[in-house]
Amino acid sequence: MTQLDSVESAGGRLGAVLSAPRSGVVALGRHGPWLTTSLDQARQVLTDVSDFDFPGDVTRSGDLSASRGETRSGHVVFPPVTPDRVARGLAVFAAEWDAALAEHDRSTPDEPYDAMALLRRPVARCTTTAVLPSLDVTRRDLVADLVLDWIDALAPVIAARRPPRRWSRARRREGEARSALHAALAVAPGLDGPPQLAATMLAAGIQVPIAAGAWLVAWLAAHPSKGPRQVDASHVVWETLRLTPPTWITARITTREVDLDGHRVPSGAVVLVSPLLLGRLPELVPGEPSGLTGFAPDRWRDETQRPGAWLPFGAGPHACPGRHLGMAILTHLSEWGLARRLALSQPVVVDQSRGIAPLPCRFVVATREAGAGA
Ligand code: HEM
Repeated sequence: MTQLDSVESAGGRLGAVLSAPRSGVVALGRHGPWLTTSLDQARQVLTDVSDFDFPGDVTRSGDLSASRGETRSGHVVFPPVTPDRVARGLAVFAAEWDAALAEHDRSTPDEPYDAMALLRRPVARCTTTAVLPSLDVTRRDLVADLVLDWIDALAPVIAARRPPRRWSRARRREGEARSALHAALAVAPGLDGPPQLAATMLAAGIQVPIAAGAWLVAWLAAHPSKGPRQVDASHVVWETLRLTPPTWITARITTREVDLDGHRVPSGAVVLVSPLLLGRLPELVPGEPSGLTGFAPDRWRDETQRPGAWLPFGAGPHACPGRHLGMAILTHLSEWGLARRLALSQPVVVDQSRGIAPLPCRFVVATREAGAGA
């Protein structure tokens, strides 16, 4: 039995988007939001930044990687993480992942692992190293912990049905966590630009890969193999990002009335792009249309389709600047998982409070495959 709750049967916003008709531009309510349902429409929305602007409020957006407005003008373009920084970050991730597993085995050997918890420090320290390579280890670890604290403090603000009041507990806690992070960044050596920008980069570059990594573990653990696996690690990564892209939806606001694929969308309307929806379009994914909702990493052996066509890292000037680091983290995790036999120890539920994340994602390493490393 697969113990992974199906994204297709999830309710909430996810259910509304997945059950929408997949033709044209669909108004989900009487006054929108408007959902794009084809790659061409999605590309237009993400690349034409003069017609489609960012939503204004960082704390009310669905996901940190879509954070804009309060923390920056909305038109800042983040430079991509360079290959040498990706390599440094990855080395930190590999060492910290091993350390996190070892610490779990030492302190709670009889408990299952919890992927969302286990990935926090390795990802936080990895991304902080890549974004701020001048930090010494002590400061890096402090900044990484402060980012995690801010992400945690933002969660209830983002998840609340109505924006919490300015002086509510949730807002105050978020403000305190944000100030502590900004203060640490303000004195960080090698920071070019305001602390707010570095904080946004770090938060987006930590929260999203934690969820992506946990999804990858969840998919592997929900599909244990009987013998050694012959699957390509990168195919597992793409299949995970196709079925459960953590930034499953992103929004833009029209700056004027626009023609979107023949549809008139009024000025000031919210337009949605969903990599999760695009990843289920038969024209973008190899394999039988009926099998598109299943986990089949081998489908990517078919090289006639380019993996990533469903935009799991976005597109245009605001596409993900950390995609190579994200791919490096996930590929390492995929190699680790493929060399072992993982099994879920309880059903995984799709949490929709901030992007999508598998919560909880508890698993055990049942046996080790032949040839696995130490
Ligand atoms: C598997 C890992 C990752 C995935 C799936 C992912 C996904 C995305 C997506 C879809 C967007 C575009 C959102 C939009 O258009 O509204 C985005 C933006 C962004 N990502 Fe990532 N990301 C990942 C890793 C990272 C990492 C490691 C970093 C930093 C080192 C990072 C930093 C950012 C930032 C700063 C933005 C905002 C860019 C802008 O608005 O100009 N991401 N990410």
